[in-house]
Amino acid sequence: MARVFVTRRLPLEPRDVLGADADVVVFPEDRPPTRDELFRGAADAEGLVCLLSERVDGTLLDRCPALRVVANVAVGHDNIDLDAVRARGIVATNTPDVLTEATAELTWALILAVARRVIEGDAYVRGGRFTHWSPTLLLGTELSGRTLGIFGRGRIGDAVARRAAAFGMDVVHTSRSSGVPFEYLLDRADVLSIHAPLNEETRHAFDDAAFARMRRGAILVNTARGPIVDEAALVRALEAGRLGGAGLDVYEDEPRVHPDLLARDDVVLLPHVGSATTRARRAMARLALENVAAVLAGRPPKTPVP
Ligand code: GLV
Repeated sequence: MARVFVTRRLPLEPRDVLGADADVVVFPEDRPPTRDELFRGAADAEGLVCLLSERVDGTLLDRCPALRVVANVAVGHDNIDLDAVRARGIVATNTPDVLTEATAELTWALILAVARRVIEGDAYVRGGRFTHWSPTLLLGTELSGRTLGIFGRGRIGDAVARRAAAFGMDVVHTSRSSGVPFEYLLDRADVLSIHAPLNEETRHAFDDAAFARMRRGAILVNTARGPIVDEAALVRALEAGRLGGAGLDVYEDEPRVHPDLLARDDVVLLPHVGSATTRARRAMARLALENVAAVLAGRPPKTPVP
């Protein structure tokens, strides 16, 4: 019976997808396994269902000689050393498409929250400070007529861009195959939203030089991967008043958040919940488990990492 190790409880019973033929062990704690717990849990597994918090590298794989498939419950796969996986003949899969709309919706929640100071307003009311209407209270940025810049127009970037028309915004974008040069995106965007994968090309793409080039008062939103932004440089750009605000769902050294970001009112911070709708998370879990089932049955997986 094929052994499958699942590194966290999922919003779906693994056996409902894998059936009775698999021997499934789910890590029981509501936290990521430590490295040692991961080594032990995956040691004799043929299938590993893991999250973006688990580093899947040669050291781990060398301790899991039976492993045939690594199924990430995420579309991003920067936590997986693909060369190490492929060198051992193991299949890696991810969960594209099923989280696209949910992540695009959360991106717009962040854009609107920063532009219209929604979190500050909520704190103002709860703090008992709403004593009268004021013509100058919590003035924000109007989106209509402004330009949305998409850094990385793949599936999610495109879903965010498609919603821009509803807010009367123009769109410029960069992508692997089309779009404008990065410098032009920085020059033009009033709201700049990051949707690229994390790799050596995109790591710290948003550094001091990039922020210096952005429009004064522009808003930066990141729902992709934290290390695409140099957080210290972002803090400097906010402190200098160059940027008008930021909406972040991801962090450079997750789950740590730069203390100077925590202290700022012009920044909205979320705990990496881009895909956190019931529908998307259940679909992600199902797809990851279906990928495992396919590989263990000798079939190609639905969504191998390209
Ligand atoms: C989440 O961040 C994902 O990559 O799915």
